[in-house]
Amino acid sequence: MLNLDTLISEEELQARIAQLGAEISKDYEGKELVVLCILKGGVMFMTDLVKHISVPLKMEFMVVSSYGDEYKSSGLVRIIKDLDEPIHDKHVLIVEDIIDSGRTLAYLTKMLSERNPASLKLCTLLNKEEERVTDVEVDYTGFKVGNEFVIGYGLDYKQYYRNLPYIAVNRG
Ligand code: IMP
Ligand code: MG
Repeated sequence: MLNLDTLISEEELQARIAQLGAEISKDYEGKELVVLCILKGGVMFMTDLVKHISVPLKMEFMVVSSYGDEYKSSGLVRIIKDLDEPIHDKHVLIVEDIIDSGRTLAYLTKMLSERNPASLKLCTLLNKEEERVTDVEVDYTGFKVGNEFVIGYGLDYKQYYRNLPYIAVNRG
């Protein structure tokens, strides 16, 4: 079992997500959005975020698997479930749980941009900037976090803990 400390409380998460939703609504005023959740990690964040977005939107889901151990992704990304509809000429907002090395998102944004969306932006709940090994342009960040392994609110350790309503850190 992990020894958990709360890093970001449920109240802090919800307050920041409401702000992000308002900001996104303003930025996309007059437009329609495709909100693309990267499963499984992005699921809690996406479902809460869309409740605060006021422009018309469609929800899409992609399942990707990044090879690696339980702590790190390798950047070798396999698409297990692709989008249901084409994104050509659509405004697409990718919603992720966390960007660490950036490898997963670098691969995904390249692949999706080849489908010629009208725009492609990235929203991540957590951003581990210090860990970046590839350039990824992040348009919306919920919280910056340090180089610690975090879990909860979608983020897992060996597939567990995704259901926590807050973000926790393992103190060992
Ligand atoms: P990247 O390709 O290194 O940016 O890895 C991103 C993916 O690695 C995330 O979508 C998570 O699935 C996983 N990941 C990275 N850091 C953490 C963490 O602290 N906790 C849980 N999963 C993480
Ligand atoms: Mg993930």
